[in-house]
Amino acid sequence: MRTIVIAIDGPAASGKSTTARLVARRLGYLHIDTGAMYRAVTFRVLEEKIPLENADRISALAEKTQLRLEKGENGLRVFVDERDVTEQVRSAQVTRSVSIVSSYQRVRNVLVREQRRMAEGGGVVLEGRDIGTVVLPNADLKIYMIANMPERVKRRQKDLQGAGVDIDGVALEREISERDRLDSTREASPLRKASDAIEVDTSGMSVEDQVEFVVARAKEIIEGGGR
Ligand code: CDP
Repeated sequence: MRTIVIAIDGPAASGKSTTARLVARRLGYLHIDTGAMYRAVTFRVLEEKIPLENADRISALAEKTQLRLEKGENGLRVFVDERDVTEQVRSAQVTRSVSIVSSYQRVRNVLVREQRRMAEGGGVVLEGRDIGTVVLPNADLKIYMIANMPERVKRRQKDLQGAGVDIDGVALEREISERDRLDSTREASPLRKASDAIEVDTSGMSVEDQVEFVVARAKEIIEGGGR
């Protein structure tokens, strides 16, 4: 049976990760969370105490860092230089700094090369900001997920509470808006919808509906044999 490449892009807390993970599970595909890769580099930058404005040192660090995503029992596990940093990459400090680190072209070059390599054989669901526009412009299925701000804040608050972090809605909204702004206005691969992506507003949708929607589109392509 034909295996395809699925690209899911969109802003923070729009439903990408959950959908990508479950779609990959339904199809028996590999889930690649590219945001986790940018977060892993950011974790190392903070650990090395490199100033966020030092593009050269950050790029050099990205170039020599080994990243690995591995399927774990509760989702993907993230490794840097063979250390498991799955929990650390979700810290507030990483979240605050990741949009600066990911704005550097040399950092993106390293990670995009790796992402393309992982997608080579097909049978993959990649999620991020620039998958359909830059990383894999020929992806078989492109989804662009959005959701309204109250819903995004609610979802992120629930995720964080699950990890034992209590943060008020106003602060979260500020953080999400700032990341949207940085991600969509940067020069290198800004967040935007590819012209051939299907936009899905997940505000009123359940997780099951989101997954079903993407799986149904994927099956049409797989069974149709073409794009
Ligand atoms: O999960 P959440 O929506 O909070 O974000 P993420 O997918 O983990 O991505 C974290 C950050 O990495 C984003 O805010 C972007 O700055 C950056 N990123 C990127 O530049 N390109 C990608 N393909 C994926 C993430």
